[in-house]
Amino acid sequence: MKKKQKKVRNKRHKKDFEKISCGSATTFPKELVREDFFKCPIWFADEPAFVDALNKASDSYIKTAEKTLKPSIDKRNKKFGNKGDMGHVFHSTSLIGDPNFLELQNYIGATAYNLLNEMGFDMAGYQLFTTEMWVQEFAKKGGGHHTLHTHWNGHISGFYFLKADETTSMPMFEDPRPGNMMNLLPEKDKSKVTYASSQINYQVKPGRMIFFPSYMPHQYIVDMGYNPFRFIHWNCQAIPKSVLNISNGQPTKGDLNVIQKK
Ligand SMILES: [Fe+2]
Repeated sequence: MKKKQKKVRNKRHKKDFEKISCGSATTFPKELVREDFFKCPIWFADEPAFVDALNKASDSYIKTAEKTLKPSIDKRNKKFGNKGDMGHVFHSTSLIGDPNFLELQNYIGATAYNLLNEMGFDMAGYQLFTTEMWVQEFAKKGGGHHTLHTHWNGHISGFYFLKADETTSMPMFEDPRPGNMMNLLPEKDKSKVTYASSQINYQVKPGRMIFFPSYMPHQYIVDMGYNPFRFIHWNCQAIPKSVLNISNGQPTKGDLNVIQKK
């Protein structure tokens, strides 16, 4: 009697399981129409024309950054053993307004505006600014890297590579959807770009330019120090013209957007 009951129970469990298991759905093998929404663009182009002049213009910035960091590197090496500049990234001060970078700055501004427009945003009431632009070079001894980050309070960010090759670091972008990241399943084949992919890396070379929305998390993988790795990084921000007191392309009178005082 007990054996019979157990058999019935097992049969029932199997039936229940099949009802909820998607893997057992054999009765609806129809092809479904797939549509993709909420896409995340990354744009790239090769613009090698700027490389030589901008490398030359960047040299003094990098030298200054190396000089600035030297005391702390020396201090570390004295305390823990000499590892040269290993692990460091030498960031310049702002390049905005430097006439040597003006052509690139204008190129970036115009392109970023077009890209936001292409994405479908109504830019009529906004003015786009390149709020940050700087050059950086990774350590000669290797170990240079950037951990995963986004650029807050920005709309379009980008890179222009001045020194890079197959041995150097490269940018890696990650899925900006936290909900998706929390529920990912293992990938079948990490070498393929699929809906299961959560990271995309870009092999880079001098002259390669990359634009992306500033919300896109990105990092730079550890550089091994075989060859120099240098690039310019920028962030652009769209500001409402009303905040800038601009109407019909002309400045308006008064501080319209200053917090009103009683
Ligand atoms: Fe960044």
